[in-house]
Amino acid sequence: MLGTGDAGVLLQEEGLDVPLTDGRTAYFNYYWLRDNCPSSFDPETRERVFDIFAEDTAPKAVSASISGGELEIAWAGSAHVTRMPLDRLAAYANGEKRADVANLPRVPWLSDHYPKMARFAHKDLIADQACVRDWSRAMLVDGIALLTGLPDTDDALKDTAGLIGHVRPSYFGQDFEVKTHIKPTNLAFTSKALPLHTDLPDEDLAPGVQFLHCRANSVEGGNSLFVDGLAVAADFREQHPEDFELLVSTDVPYYCEHDTFDMRARQHVIELDEYGNISGVTISQHHADIFDMPQQDLNRFYPAFCRFGRMMRDEKYMMRFRLNAGECIVFDNHRIVHGRAAYSATSGDRHLRGCYIDRGEMRSTYRVLAGEGRFK
Ligand SMILES: [Fe+2]
Repeated sequence: MLGTGDAGVLLQEEGLDVPLTDGRTAYFNYYWLRDNCPSSFDPETRERVFDIFAEDTAPKAVSASISGGELEIAWAGSAHVTRMPLDRLAAYANGEKRADVANLPRVPWLSDHYPKMARFAHKDLIADQACVRDWSRAMLVDGIALLTGLPDTDDALKDTAGLIGHVRPSYFGQDFEVKTHIKPTNLAFTSKALPLHTDLPDEDLAPGVQFLHCRANSVEGGNSLFVDGLAVAADFREQHPEDFELLVSTDVPYYCEHDTFDMRARQHVIELDEYGNISGVTISQHHADIFDMPQQDLNRFYPAFCRFGRMMRDEKYMMRFRLNAGECIVFDNHRIVHGRAAYSATSGDRHLRGCYIDRGEMRSTYRVLAGEGRFK
């Protein structure tokens, strides 16, 4: 049965139509209205405490009206009254994803990015939360930032990472040391050239943000290489749209096997975010497993994969620079592809100390420092 509430609210079987302050009329489902009643949320924990699973019957309004900028609903079979602010309703009227201040447009960059790269002094990050906000913003927009003036201590890495998240371990532990190892388990732990890659695609959830704290770099060679996978993928989509679709949709197997571990996971070479925008890439030739896709499918996949890999190596995209002692490069491991030129292990010391955090925590830090949230 349909009914008309006060102020033009139209009650329907499963929801109601409500006029919003901007002149639109929008439909809202009764379950949604009851579940998201402001009283459903505990003001202290800020968590939902209303249990919609415990309702015996489907929520239904018996009357509804607008007063004082709120939609007021009386519910059938219950003494409960919901007062829902109209501006909250307006935000959900079109079925669009919740607005997110951390959903910043990513800006692709090319080989000339080094002088323009966002830089932050460690002492400023320690002293000023606004500086941490700007750093996390740069990470969301550019996917990379250079920190300077880190103390030459083991703790400096985790303490710095802790400013925007919690260190999350990998199967190498809480952190890792990039220097020549006597029995290397990874190409990074040798003095050989390290081809462009993202780290640990063999993990279920490949690390989100990578930190590399340079403790020493006095060797000949060993320059760092960084490429914005987003810039390459965007050009690739323009020039090879069918190949692009293949790299977005094909599960590629990755592995990392040694005496005490046998990691395996599947990833897409080009990654899209929840809005369908390119968010970056996951790629590593030295961790790519033997492709086990149907051989016929490889007739198309391999040429596309190689075209992308070659494009990634184009000088147009390649930012080369020397990482100096006391600097820490921080980058989105699902977007920025990195590598290293070979170096002479006997010519001096080269020592980077690395760790990871998740991207979700970094976005959380940015939202908090940007002053956004439903409970502000
Ligand atoms: Fe790496």
